[in-house]
Amino acid sequence: MSKPTIQHLLTRRSVSANALVEPGPDSAQLEQILTAATRVPDHKKLVPWRFILFQGEAREVFGNALADACRAEESEPSAVRLEMEARRFMRAPLVIAVVSRVTVPSPVPEWEQILSAGAACQNLVVAASALGFGVNWITEWCAYSAGVRQALGLADNERVAGFVYIGTPAAQPDERPRPALDEVVSAWKGQ
Ligand SMILES: Cc1cc2nc3c(=O)[nH]c(=O)nc-3n(C[C@H](O)[C@H](O)[C@H](O)COP(=O)(O)O)c2cc1C
Repeated sequence: MSKPTIQHLLTRRSVSANALVEPGPDSAQLEQILTAATRVPDHKKLVPWRFILFQGEAREVFGNALADACRAEESEPSAVRLEMEARRFMRAPLVIAVVSRVTVPSPVPEWEQILSAGAACQNLVVAASALGFGVNWITEWCAYSAGVRQALGLADNERVAGFVYIGTPAAQPDERPRPALDEVVSAWKGQ
């Protein structure tokens, strides 16, 4: 049985994409994870996000686009670097590109629409880890690459909010320091 929600939120840690192995979620688990990701706060129901899945061979095929973008955008990348790019999405059984898509003009500020995409990423993280998977929400250079944007088929109003890597953790991560609450929380005392 999975941990109670509050216990999960108080102990969750990301697992490095390099430490994620098979198996990934099965189709029923994936549907749950994605359904959780669509259940985020979304002002005026604009649905300001979408998800692109990379599993199996698609990860390797997309690696060609990653290597091509690296070759086009970086000065003289080494053969080792290009090989690494070709294998970037192979690090985990499942990679989900979370795409923020803003509707402009809209009565909902662009900022709020982008925040909703962040919430969708975090729900992916929380849902997948609640099912026992290791998860890593990362962007890396490829979230900001023109070539990768094109390979993903992003429209002008779309941006990568993150690549969420999901798999079985090869090892459990150590604890990571968190800010003390008194560093980040204050009671408003007036002007
Ligand atoms: C939008 C966004 C992008 C991120 N991109 C990266 C990244 O490219 N590389 C990285 O190592 N961590 C990145 N992180 C941080 C990880 O998601 C994660 O927070 C970190 O590894 C610490 O793990 P924790 O979730 O246990 O705190 C990013 C986080 C966010 C919110």
